[in-house]
Amino acid sequence: MNEPVLTRRIPCHPWGDPKDRHIVRYDEYVKTGGYQALEKARSMNPQDIVDLVKESQLRGRGGAGFPCGLKWTFLPPPDGGRRYLAVNCDEAEPCTFKDRLLIDFDPHLVLEGIAITCYACALDTAYFFIRGEYRHQATVVADAIREAYDHGIFAPGVECYLHRSAGAYICGEETGLLEAIEGKRAWPRIKPPFPAVKGLFGRPTIVNNVETLAAVVPIVERGAEWWKTMGCESSIGAPPSYGPKLMGVSGHVNRPGVYEVDLGISLRTLVEEHCQGMRGGKRFKGAIAGGISMGVLGPDQFDAVMDFDLGRTCHVLGLGTACPTIFDEDTDMVAVTRNIARFFMNESCGQCTPCRDGSRWMYQLLCRIEAGDASSRDLDLLLELAGSMGIMPGTTICGLADGNNWAVRTLVNRFRGEFEARVKPSAVAVGVSALS
Ligand SMILES: Cc1cc2nc3c(=O)[nH]c(=O)nc-3n(C[C@H](O)[C@H](O)[C@H](O)COP(=O)(O)O)c2cc1C
Ligand code: SF4
Repeated sequence: MNEPVLTRRIPCHPWGDPKDRHIVRYDEYVKTGGYQALEKARSMNPQDIVDLVKESQLRGRGGAGFPCGLKWTFLPPPDGGRRYLAVNCDEAEPCTFKDRLLIDFDPHLVLEGIAITCYACALDTAYFFIRGEYRHQATVVADAIREAYDHGIFAPGVECYLHRSAGAYICGEETGLLEAIEGKRAWPRIKPPFPAVKGLFGRPTIVNNVETLAAVVPIVERGAEWWKTMGCESSIGAPPSYGPKLMGVSGHVNRPGVYEVDLGISLRTLVEEHCQGMRGGKRFKGAIAGGISMGVLGPDQFDAVMDFDLGRTCHVLGLGTACPTIFDEDTDMVAVTRNIARFFMNESCGQCTPCRDGSRWMYQLLCRIEAGDASSRDLDLLLELAGSMGIMPGTTICGLADGNNWAVRTLVNRFRGEFEARVKPSAVAVGVSALS
């Protein structure tokens, strides 16, 4: 990348010093070119904006990488009733903290993306759904919404509400989020129907991540061709990964933080050049790929290419939120796995038996394995349980269970020796296959 795009007003390495960060209020935002994309958008035909975003091949930044423009085309034509935008700022995935950077310092960038999206898709009500723990950020966003109203940023008839989450990981799953906004327990819905057709209060709804909406602004401002000069083509014939991406790195590195980089950067470059290397000069042992739901990369995958092909090229679930957590050679991977399993057990909403009961069973097995009270048979049982839960084996309503499945399976398979060293040999011969 030659210049910061999403972080142009937020000092980040290598372009600026994070010590200089401050909240960009309306006046400063406008002085630095803000809301010009909205003005340009309003001079365009709404359908042309949808086509532009489609042409940019912007992929959703919330985890699944679904093409943004294509999602917008799933909306039915306006029928005079309400149409919603649900802004997903739940960001409850452990190790993920990249949306927070935007709303901490440049909330108007997201509001501009919201105003453009509402105009392009003929949406009249936006709900900004923010993680419950983001109390300070909720204040920043509320102030920015007030400023936006004062300056007529939202078109007449368009409303924008801030909705604070009660605080649960499942609220980030798009249909759980819709239930939560409706004031109910965040139980994910069975799909189809998808939200674009039947979402909030039974009406057409677009659910987009905060970073996705922020990306719409520079695309409208500078065009799809410019957007496509950043990022990379697929190496396996899949759709490309264009544009810059916010990557939040945590764990055993010298300088953790959020970096804006081109999609396609290698994990090694991210760690060695941006994060100033491994902490204490230790060896790289592995990394959570992009939020714990995506699974873990092993010691031989330090050169993994961080693009939307990551799932297929490195045999994890996907790029996810592109926020890797780095482990050094001293990390106890059995303890890591037990800790992750505890998270999924606590966060299961309880609707689906494999997720509700399987996650508890897996956690109990992992506690026994860690304590040295399990046999090798329990290790195979653990893999069998993991592999039987999720949308992909077809046993659950939402992807939370797939996250548990991939996290546990990749950890056990990539660090099998550490698990085997903790269990007693079993009298009964068993054999559950490793990956896939
Ligand atoms: C358990 C679970 C939690 C999720 N949490 C978030 C989240 O915190 N933020 C987010 O943007 N997407 C989250 N997602 C993905 C959303 O369901 C949805 O795909 C996304 O908000 C769509 O926006 P995008 O197309 O702009 O990426 C989660 C998905 C699952 C299965
Ligand atoms: S998979 Fe788990 S979190 Fe998702 S709906 Fe089923 S029980 Fe709830």
